[in-house]
Amino acid sequence: MYPFLAWLQNSVLGHAMRESGVWTYGVVNLVHILGVASLFGAVLVLDLRLAGVWRKIPLAAISSATVPVAATGFSIAVLSGICLLATKATEYAGNPFLYIKFPAIAFGLLNVLALNASAAWKEHRIRQLSPQEQSKLAAFGGVSLFCWLTAISAGRMIGYW
Ligand code: HEM
Repeated sequence: MYPFLAWLQNSVLGHAMRESGVWTYGVVNLVHILGVASLFGAVLVLDLRLAGVWRKIPLAAISSATVPVAATGFSIAVLSGICLLATKATEYAGNPFLYIKFPAIAFGLLNVLALNASAAWKEHRIRQLSPQEQSKLAAFGGVSLFCWLTAISAGRMIGYW
């Protein structure tokens, strides 16, 4: 891990983050938080719906609004996060919260892939789901909330180590 962090810190991106003005890190951090807020805000609404809240609103109506917001927020968080990491990458080498955050993000993404591959998710836009199918989607929603809350908590704690 350390060689990669050292390479990232010495990359053009690392130099640009450190040498392009005193406000750069703060602004990129703000962008990171806006990305995280968009991701989690959208995920929270979708996961609560998957868990059975707001049953009167069709799942397709909620998923069509929240999925693009979550995907955009995630992309912004990843791009800005890499910039933040590049600023002082080697200082994070022994930080345990980094090793909680990235696996949590990876599991969150695997859960998204599994959800997208499930028959219930594929069918939810074209027909009413059975109670068994709704339960399966609720499980995906629970795992999703756990992963993203863990990633956010660990991300917040990184700076306090
Ligand atoms: C490749 C992806 C990502 C990288 C490399 C990354 C990296 C970082 C870094 C270096 C920090 C600053 C830590 C510090 O010194 O205080 C940070 C903060 C944070 N990250 Fe990420 N991050 C990524 C994606 C995400 C995602 C997807 C989430 C949400 C699920 C997230 C949530 C947070 C939070 C909540 C903070 C604390 C911000 C603050 O308190 O100012 N990050 N991230």
